[in-house]
Amino acid sequence: MSENIIELKKLTKRYGYGDTESFALKDFDLTIKRGEFIMIMGPSGCGKTTLLNIIGLLDRATSGEYSLNGENVAGISSRRKARLRAKKIGFIFQNFNLIQDLSVLENVALPLVYVNQPRTVRLKNASDALSRFHLQEKEYYLPSQLSGGQQQRAAIARAIVSDPEIILADEPTGNLDSRASTAVMEELKSIHAEGNTIIMVTHNPALTVYATRVINMLDGQIDTDIKTVSDQNLPQKIEVKRGKRRKRKLSNRRKK
Ligand SMILES: Nc1ncnc2c1ncn2[C@@H]1O[C@H](COP(=O)(O)OP(=O)(O)OP(=O)(O)O)[C@@H](O)[C@H]1O
Ligand SMILES: [Mg+2]
Repeated sequence: MSENIIELKKLTKRYGYGDTESFALKDFDLTIKRGEFIMIMGPSGCGKTTLLNIIGLLDRATSGEYSLNGENVAGISSRRKARLRAKKIGFIFQNFNLIQDLSVLENVALPLVYVNQPRTVRLKNASDALSRFHLQEKEYYLPSQLSGGQQQRAAIARAIVSDPEIILADEPTGNLDSRASTAVMEELKSIHAEGNTIIMVTHNPALTVYATRVINMLDGQIDTDIKTVSDQNLPQKIEVKRGKRRKRKLSNRRKK
């Protein structure tokens, strides 16, 4: 398996033509190693969300190359992209994006629909994920009955329930007070310590203490790029015992 989990080469995202032409990303080069915790900063409109959406296979670049685990995504069918997204990538958003008329438990179980688990197993795994984030008593609540911090922790549980190796977070603490924000960052820290790769956008410089690399963007390009942890000290992916998931992972590995 490629040590570079993500490789972007001359990635460009253009909007409009002629007089209205503008670039959200321009000749953007970035190589991300497994186990990095990257924080992306930069002024409003510099292309941070565009970048996360392309990495998360929710959007596509106008030109350039994107390799995920050594595979060029341009050659992947949209059906397989959807499956890759469900299995490999977890999303966390600033406004939580929980579905308001589903219970917290059903929200967290949702990504497992795409990895073909039966409903009872889905709910068990969702319940395990919620316990990890200390929300076990809130399983049957609706999102609106939770505080902002609790909603974001539920959204993190949803992002990690299928045990993806890449977590994309777009200003996950943007709507939280400092206490809830610290709680969310500590959860992300523990997910990172398990060897997962995290790419997070933030406007808060104080949070960069959690990162292994800080990238400042300007006008669709990298302005500065600083690694605070050397590549050999990045965490290795470890198996976490979480209900049925461990068995599934082990049997997957046997197949290889
Ligand atoms: N659908 C679209 N059509 C035209 N321009 C767009 C579209 N989506 C984004 N843009 C432009 O691309 C640029 C980058 O947008 P993006 O959302 O990535 O910025 P951002 O860095 O996430 O900003 P913020 O910090 O405000 O969230 C902006 O100039 C924006 O206006
Ligand atoms: Mg944005």
